[in-house]
Amino acid sequence: MIRSHVLICGGTGCTSGGSVAIGDKLQQELNRLGLAEEIKIVRTGCFGLCALGPVMIVYPEGTFYSRVKIEDVTDIAEEHLLKGRIVERLVYKENEELDMSQVPALGETNFYKTQLRVALRNCGVIDPENIEEYIAMDGYQALGKVLTEMTPAQVIDVMKASGLRGRGGAGFPTGMKWQFAAANEADQKYVVCNADEGDPGAFMDRSILEGDPHAVLEAMAIAGYAIGASKGYIYVRAEYPIAVSRLQIAIDQAREYGLLGEKIFGTDFSFDCEIRLGAGAFVCGEETALLTSIEGNRGEPRNKPPFPANKGLFGKPTIINNVETLANIPQIFLKGADWFASMGTEDSKGTKVFALGGAINNTGLVEIPLGTTLRHIIYDIGGGIPNGRQFKAVQTGGPSGGCIPASMLDTPIDYANLTRIGAMMGSGGMIVTDDSTCMVDFARFFLDFTVDESCGKCTPCRIGTRRLLELLNKITEGNGTIEAKSSATTSRAIPSAHSARPRPTPCSPPSSISAMSMRHTLLKSAAPQAYVRNL
Ligand SMILES: Cc1cc2nc3c(=O)[nH]c(=O)nc-3n(C[C@H](O)[C@H](O)[C@H](O)COP(=O)(O)O)c2cc1C
Ligand code: SF4
Ligand code: FES
Repeated sequence: MIRSHVLICGGTGCTSGGSVAIGDKLQQELNRLGLAEEIKIVRTGCFGLCALGPVMIVYPEGTFYSRVKIEDVTDIAEEHLLKGRIVERLVYKENEELDMSQVPALGETNFYKTQLRVALRNCGVIDPENIEEYIAMDGYQALGKVLTEMTPAQVIDVMKASGLRGRGGAGFPTGMKWQFAAANEADQKYVVCNADEGDPGAFMDRSILEGDPHAVLEAMAIAGYAIGASKGYIYVRAEYPIAVSRLQIAIDQAREYGLLGEKIFGTDFSFDCEIRLGAGAFVCGEETALLTSIEGNRGEPRNKPPFPANKGLFGKPTIINNVETLANIPQIFLKGADWFASMGTEDSKGTKVFALGGAINNTGLVEIPLGTTLRHIIYDIGGGIPNGRQFKAVQTGGPSGGCIPASMLDTPIDYANLTRIGAMMGSGGMIVTDDSTCMVDFARFFLDFTVDESCGKCTPCRIGTRRLLELLNKITEGNGTIEAKSSATTSRAIPSAHSARPRPTPCSPPSSISAMSMRHTLLKSAAPQAYVRNL
């Protein structure tokens, strides 16, 4: 009989810190101590607190060990697991002053207590390579309910009532997208999962796939039923080997259990999924480029309309949804559209996952109800800025986003607010900078990225971003002129082929320019000539 479970994080962050070897060594120690029958090791996805990795939790006590090294394993096995004595030096304490009797339960720490885990609910909780653990957490129940109790039209109504908007960046209402695809008659339709995740600093989708791949498969099957599709593709970048391997295991297991394939749950509905590997081009995250890439062609965006819901993969009606969008869906059918719509703001329902990185203490993955302020995320959940430095700005929305300065930290995060203050929700990367960061250098980093990632199809992007980068290089090398600064800060108006907004490019747009504008605003009291010389 199992008396204790040891959950070891097998997310990419902890894996790169040696968590696989730590798990192997712990198993050897359990064997040596004769504990293998009573203590079970569970290798999970990301817990969220990646900055403290490799991490492990011992249940039923709920002891959270952080920064575990291979040399610590024998102590954990002999002291904690054999003798019941917690290894205090490894226990995570938010505040080093606390003694053991004051250490709060993990769920009560500042990092976790205000988070609401919907898309991440199983990450760090179950073994993603074991379908039975997903089923034990109500997995595939939503699919069963949808297939046996609801019509496709009812499924779409629930999605619309939930208010779920796409988490891949554009924030398009998911139910409406499904409705468009359902309305098109065709002999074949497709459901595509966008797991390209090319934004610098973003790792939300990777973590969901690594920690809970079945949630995405279940949602894709629900989407297939709603629109009348029997085939799905998951487009995931090849640089995500753990996610790819766990997804393939999940697909194989779901087929074995009859949850993918022919006549699912004994109904007439059949649906199957395949993985397609992307080569890591940022532009292939754009939906039309992604579909072109699946078709075996060079990944370049095309103009819309026609939208994929009308003419998508291989010319057939297709819905394409982001990983996090999909991960919310089984819960919506289990708990109801009203439950989902009760979270968030008027404009933005539910929760959002953010990848916190840069100058912040708690680098990691957080999920909060929409409407939470940036200040709460950065100072309470994120633990503030390291080394006693001051916050300068947070970059959100990937290369298409913007930099939000300290004066706007009390803005509640939702789609409308972020757009209003010149940033955007994007997919959820949040890169924090402190007062030692030069915002022009920061802007140059993003612009460099967009120059590298331009597919070359449109002149404003292929040539314009390069010219902008030259201007920023000039400024950062101390050779800036008033004209250079002025061109760089007004280049938002370069027309774009695919975007509704004036951006230098649709596919590799200008957080860099927003950062420039912000820097300009922050320093507007400085004499202009000194400004361009001294940046
Ligand atoms: C340049 C560019 C890159 C994009 N990259 C991604 C990406 O990596 N992942 C993603 O889900 N959406 C990405 N998108 C948005 C997709 O085009 C599309 O809107 C999204 O996959 C739709 O899913 P959703 O409605 O669930 O958000 C990108 C868009 C652009 C313009
Ligand atoms: S804007 Fe840039 S990345 Fe997008 S299609 Fe044009 S050249 Fe390619
Ligand atoms: S990868 Fe281990 S906590 Fe995030």
